[in-house]
Amino acid sequence: MKADFKVNINDVIGKIDPRMWGSLVEQLGRGVYTGIYQPNHPTADENGCRQDVIAAIKELNVPVIRYPGGNFVSGYNWEDGVGPQDKRPVRLDLAWKTIENNQFGLHEFMNWAQKINANADMAINLGTRGIDAARNLVEYCNFPKGTYWSDLRIKNGQTEPFNIKLWSLGNEMDGDWQIGHKTAEEYGRLAHETAKAMKIVDPSIELIACGSSSHTMATFGKWEETVLDHVYDDVNYLSLHQYYDNNEHNIKKFLGFSVDLDNFINDVVAICDAVKARKHKNKTMYLAMDEWNVWYHSKDADAKADPWQIAPHLLEDHYNFADALVVGAMAMVLINHADRVKIGCLAQLVNVIAPIMTNTEGEPSVWLQSIFYPFMQVSNYAQGEALKVEANCKSYTVENITVPYISSSAVYNSDKNELVLFIENKSDQESQFNYELTSCTDVSLVDATQFCGYDLKQTNEDQTMQLERLSKINVAANSIAGKLGPYSWNMIRLSANVK
Ligand code: AHR
Repeated sequence: MKADFKVNINDVIGKIDPRMWGSLVEQLGRGVYTGIYQPNHPTADENGCRQDVIAAIKELNVPVIRYPGGNFVSGYNWEDGVGPQDKRPVRLDLAWKTIENNQFGLHEFMNWAQKINANADMAINLGTRGIDAARNLVEYCNFPKGTYWSDLRIKNGQTEPFNIKLWSLGNEMDGDWQIGHKTAEEYGRLAHETAKAMKIVDPSIELIACGSSSHTMATFGKWEETVLDHVYDDVNYLSLHQYYDNNEHNIKKFLGFSVDLDNFINDVVAICDAVKARKHKNKTMYLAMDEWNVWYHSKDADAKADPWQIAPHLLEDHYNFADALVVGAMAMVLINHADRVKIGCLAQLVNVIAPIMTNTEGEPSVWLQSIFYPFMQVSNYAQGEALKVEANCKSYTVENITVPYISSSAVYNSDKNELVLFIENKSDQESQFNYELTSCTDVSLVDATQFCGYDLKQTNEDQTMQLERLSKINVAANSIAGKLGPYSWNMIRLSANVK
């Protein structure tokens, strides 16, 4: 197998928004409780947040966290999560059939987000609630003082406004599993009126409208069009969510799902631009891929879980090596759409379909999943400008989808004069690659790593998976060539100046 790539450092797709490598923290299972928040844990800080988990999250350099859901938000009363903890109500969470004791809420979240250096993407409930709760929440969070809700925030210990700039108008409202699921027409109207009220309270906020919950939704396309008809002027971003599974035990199909993600994004961009043209708008609609990941290992166990537990083990996928390759390939697709996708949230962050797992007690207190590694590399090094990559490589076809065996994304970080190449080999063969570099000088190798050599089904509970040096490469003045391991995720960092 052989792949030839060409990249011109001046041929830019778009700037990668730092918010591309965000995540989702949902009040679900052990995502919050015994995940990020566990007051009785030996590493808990003064607010009950686990510092061992904070340290692991910091390695991921996550810039934005969507919160508090997910499906959870569509039945949530945000007021339940503020004020003295001993006075907060215990509620049924209908989305996941669990008990929510509300010991973690808005203030705890904002305080924790600051510790991991992340901003909030605050989701509002457009399932069971609407305009009133949303505009009150914006007032509570962002209005300086002197009104009922802003003074309540101050009374609850936060003098300065939280100044939350990014807000999600509900969650997956196209899905019939959603509490308060709506038709596109119903959601579009409600989202428009809610956006209007929220922006009267704080005109500086940015808004995300719900797109489709996956590319396969029966309403896909029509949903986007109808919703955008209502909210085109109100929102900055349209969301899209996508999870992939290997339920069919078809590894070629599973590894090739990134091609479907690419098609999905292209489709949504086309719909946004068609609405833009029809409405004679100058404004471009950007995308928020605010839930993406692999998700399937835990579904059978979850179906059998007892309802109405506090912080049960739900959605605790143990990811294998193949899953890491899919996550890496999905991340490369996001890089390749940096001109339109501005926000991304790997769903989720801790314990719940997550790169980071915790044990409630004992050692290891935290362990890292296979998917942690490719995500950590893109979140730290896919910063700067995404470049167009020309590729020439053999491909395979699965159910009418053509998947290149070897694919790549390239990023130039002009602050560091660094060209970063991500390359994935989906074949079971060691493969040769050659990268021709144009418009750059002074090229030298900074670092090259591979994630390779594991059985596709291997998981990482024993923490033996690691990135290794990629040694079989040669760097010349205007090219780099080398060998990629079978089934491998690779990252090559080069020092390079623009010619
Ligand atoms: O991330 C898990 C769930 O997936 C979220 O709650 C929901 O938005 C999506 O269906």
